[in-house]
Amino acid sequence: MQKFIDIIDFEIKGDEKGSLISIEEHINLPFKIKRVYYIYNTQQKVIRGLHAHKKLNQLAICLNGSCDFVLDNGKNRETIKLDRKDKGILIQKNIWREMKNFSEDCVIMVLADQLYDSNDYINDYGEFLDYINNV
Ligand code: TYD
Repeated sequence: MQKFIDIIDFEIKGDEKGSLISIEEHINLPFKIKRVYYIYNTQQKVIRGLHAHKKLNQLAICLNGSCDFVLDNGKNRETIKLDRKDKGILIQKNIWREMKNFSEDCVIMVLADQLYDSNDYINDYGEFLDYINNV
């Protein structure tokens, strides 16, 4: 199967005071960070995402609780559980994503390589399939 899911296992640089993870562009993150946002207070039955991006690449880390990420490249669909502070999932452009099964305490931090642009979204799965078959 073509690899389209990239998990980054971050090194935990803890000491006796506690744990610390450092994310540095082009060292352990394959892009330059232009935007950071975080998702919290998501109701358990809600499905978020349900879109793809034409240009945007992102990395999501679960800072608290857990949720499931469904990633789909138009040919294959995989579900990854995010439940660790030291595990990031790369969500590249042209990947359909859905997020579900949020725990009540779930906090997802997302690092992004573009500023927010509503025109970069593909919100319809059929359109997504047409788009990726023509890029
Ligand atoms: P959306 O991307 O739909 O969130 P999700 O895919 O997680 O369900 O964004 C939710 C709302 O927040 C929508 O109104 C757009 C807005 N938004 C911003 O203003 N800036 C941002 O960086 C992001 C990601 C969303």
